[in-house]
Amino acid sequence: MQSRVTTSTLIKMKQKGQKITALTAYDYPFASMLDQAGIEIILVGDSLGMVVQGKETTLPVTMDEAIYHTSMVSRACTFSMVIGDMPFMSYQGSLDRAIENAGRFLKEAGAAAVKLEGGADVCPVITALSKAGIPVQAHIGLTPQSVHQMGGFKVQRDEERLLKDARDVQSAGAFSVVLEGIPSPIAAKITNELQIPTIGIGAGVECDGQILVLHDMIGINNRFLPKFVKKYADLAGVAKQGLEQYIKEVKGGEFPSKDYEYK
Ligand code: KIV
Repeated sequence: MQSRVTTSTLIKMKQKGQKITALTAYDYPFASMLDQAGIEIILVGDSLGMVVQGKETTLPVTMDEAIYHTSMVSRACTFSMVIGDMPFMSYQGSLDRAIENAGRFLKEAGAAAVKLEGGADVCPVITALSKAGIPVQAHIGLTPQSVHQMGGFKVQRDEERLLKDARDVQSAGAFSVVLEGIPSPIAAKITNELQIPTIGIGAGVECDGQILVLHDMIGINNRFLPKFVKKYADLAGVAKQGLEQYIKEVKGGEFPSKDYEYK
């Protein structure tokens, strides 16, 4: 059996030039599939607000919901590293509250690390959590929790700011950083400069690893898909076929046939 992925596994992978695979998951059955397939990082993203709860943004996700979903995912994993995504306003208020909330992901939900959004502004939080023994993955570029401040989900192109944010989160103690919605040449520059692994989403192939929202890439999200999403499967199509067949067989009195009944 392969040993569990840790922060040092990821750093070693970067040093050896081995690409890191990451996906989101929000429940036990999908997390089991990802873990068994050998995905190195499972992020219980606050994207759950949009792809699972059907909300317009990630902002309404609560700490209790994030803990509930992270617990289900952790229970399924023996290989993948599970990262809990800190909800909007769970780490901005005070360092004490940030430590308390981040601690819940490790104590109650079985995660090995947390992710939080922001660059230079959140460095005091990254340092405080790291000092408390909580590994932190940073997230810069297009940060969905700042959708209102950014005026929409927009590609971020300010190279100087992005490079500074990347350097700052590394210095603050982050073990990895998600680069979202960044032109590929800038993401490549950041990746070459940093010692910690970069995980890209809409940031090109030069990142040390890639992450996608699971429901987008397996085709069970019927909403708008951004340009960077590649659909690897059409699970909604397969499910639709099965559902139509079930309806037809029940209505036609074909199901349950003798094979599916007790004698
Ligand atoms: O919430 C999320 O799923 C994320 C990833 C897409 C990086 O933040």
